[in-house]
Amino acid sequence: MSGSALYETFARAPLAFDHGEGTWLVTDKGERYLDFAGGIAVNSLGHSHPHLVAALTEQAAKLWHVSNLYEIPGQSRLGERLADATFADKVFFTNSGAEALECAIKTARRYHFVKGHPERFRVITFEGAFHGRTLATIAAGGQYKYLEGFGPKVEGFDQVGFDDIDAAEKAITPETAAILIEPVQGEGGIRPVPTQSLKRLRQLCEQHGLLLIYDEVQCGIGRTGKLFAHEWSGVTPDIMAIAKGIGGGFPMGACLATDEAAIGMTSGVHGTTFGGNPLAMAVGNAVLDVVLEDGFLEDVQRKALLMKQGLAAVADEFPEVIEDIRGTGLMLGLKCAMPNTKVNMAMRDQHLLAVPAGDNVIRLLPPLTVTDAEIHDALNRIRAGAKGLAEAIAAAAAK
Ligand SMILES: Cc1ncc(COP(=O)(O)O)c(C=O)c1O
Repeated sequence: MSGSALYETFARAPLAFDHGEGTWLVTDKGERYLDFAGGIAVNSLGHSHPHLVAALTEQAAKLWHVSNLYEIPGQSRLGERLADATFADKVFFTNSGAEALECAIKTARRYHFVKGHPERFRVITFEGAFHGRTLATIAAGGQYKYLEGFGPKVEGFDQVGFDDIDAAEKAITPETAAILIEPVQGEGGIRPVPTQSLKRLRQLCEQHGLLLIYDEVQCGIGRTGKLFAHEWSGVTPDIMAIAKGIGGGFPMGACLATDEAAIGMTSGVHGTTFGGNPLAMAVGNAVLDVVLEDGFLEDVQRKALLMKQGLAAVADEFPEVIEDIRGTGLMLGLKCAMPNTKVNMAMRDQHLLAVPAGDNVIRLLPPLTVTDAEIHDALNRIRAGAKGLAEAIAAAAAK
């Protein structure tokens, strides 16, 4: 056996956390880290949020699992609350983002099937997308590094350039079923899609009878300062995949759809053992209790501005390290002027956790509950990291 019993699929940092408190993670050695990685947008309400802990432990003492062969009241309640808060009429609960996307893709294909067009199964996607690691979702994401070696790519995904709506239009054929897009690309490097582009995609869908699918697995649940990122554009989808933040750290996801889009998802055509189980539903409902509280999202918007302004100042001071600030809400990216992995390490040395993304970006995804003081603290650490790197660049140049 080589070193560890675990698959070597993750390049892990040499850090093991023992517990978390709000925006902080504490290692097994008692060292404290400011967590602006947030489990890659999972820990929407930070660590050990008292309302989530209470909801989970209360449910754990009552009932952990019951099959979807029976009524699950927490599931009906969360489904209704998500439908009330969005464009959707119907919800299917999953355990992960990739499963929510699988459900979204299946929903779109079944829609055309029951409408008498089984030939319409293809989905248009965008360069830089990330939709998960199942065989279908790596095909949807279209990134060679995730497809290589896993056999024939699942058929039915046509990729065009990021924000290239003309190319999307040209890619539509009589076999096209849907267009799938993240309103803000996460893994692709925190790239928001302009409102105008979403509007054009919506028009194309109307014109050609296609379904518009949003992937809000990373950008949803308050991350951008609205419950869902697409609300900023006012352009609603027919189907939407969510996950991450809705569980606040408990594994769960969901596929939301209009009545019309979900028309093919009839009894027996889809299923899951664990999706929508009582523990996940208790936590999901508790997350919504907090995120939908009066003023919560407005406060996220205010804090996001504070953070973005602070980051812009650091970028102005150290352009040789940080080239640009991008993103929206508490989903911000530092476009790096040097390898993002180095910047990430320098920030980690300052005990600030962030996440590298595509396009040489570092993602900052703090809990939505982050305080102003923690934002200032993080900015100081980012500045200290950037300063150290800038000094190293200057020293190397002077040699
Ligand atoms: C936008 C997006 N879609 C889908 C996924 C896949 O989610 P999961 O890892 O829960 O399967 C991710 C995960 O990072 C994501 O960011």
